[in-house]
Amino acid sequence: MSDTPPRLLAFAGSLREASYNRRLIPVLADGAESAGATVTLVELRDYPLPVYDGDIEAAGMPENVRRLQALMAAHEGLLVSTPEYNGSIPALVKNTLDWISRPMEDGRSGTTLFAGKVAGIVSASPGPLGGLRSLLVLRDALAKLGLLVVPRQVAVGSAAERLPERGVLDDARLREAVHAVGASVAGWATGVRRKD
Ligand SMILES: Cc1cc2nc3c(=O)[nH]c(=O)nc-3n(C[C@H](O)[C@H](O)[C@H](O)COP(=O)(O)O)c2cc1C
Repeated sequence: MSDTPPRLLAFAGSLREASYNRRLIPVLADGAESAGATVTLVELRDYPLPVYDGDIEAAGMPENVRRLQALMAAHEGLLVSTPEYNGSIPALVKNTLDWISRPMEDGRSGTTLFAGKVAGIVSASPGPLGGLRSLLVLRDALAKLGLLVVPRQVAVGSAAERLPERGVLDDARLREAVHAVGASVAGWATGVRRKD
């Protein structure tokens, strides 16, 4: 255990300005901060990456991969809000994770940036199920990278009505549930904090 607040990296798996998942991220971050974590919010559109291509990597790792790897190294956990595309996670989310997992400048595997860290996942969709199926896929993808994904998760359906603006979730029960996901990650990140 450590007295230092756990540092969590938060991002939405959508690039569009009016994204419901971008609107949901501050709610998730609030929950983590209220439980003592420090949260860094990042926008993936500030880290544009090509679709993974080994030839691009061989020619020289994109600078944005190095920037994302450095961010991941500086945090003990992840908070992710993902859209659902055809029952799965968007290519953006998988592509970002795949690039980060590639070897670092010192030759170590990028997967060591994830291993033993903690993640909390939520989703938002205008549909009735809120992107629930994408959470199953994301949970599995993060677990395969060695992250502990906390058991709580929330899928916010009817997002057009419930998420009218950034950080506003117009449903008290769901808001509390999303906060609880963030708080749970903060708790677990404190308990399993890595020393290296
Ligand atoms: C290619 C594509 C596939 C989609 N498939 C699903 C789906 O399987 N389930 C669902 O609830 N919504 C689906 N949607 C609708 C998204 O939930 C909706 O576009 C949502 O606003 C995306 O998240 P964002 O608002 O954070 O960008 C799909 C949208 C796209 C573009």
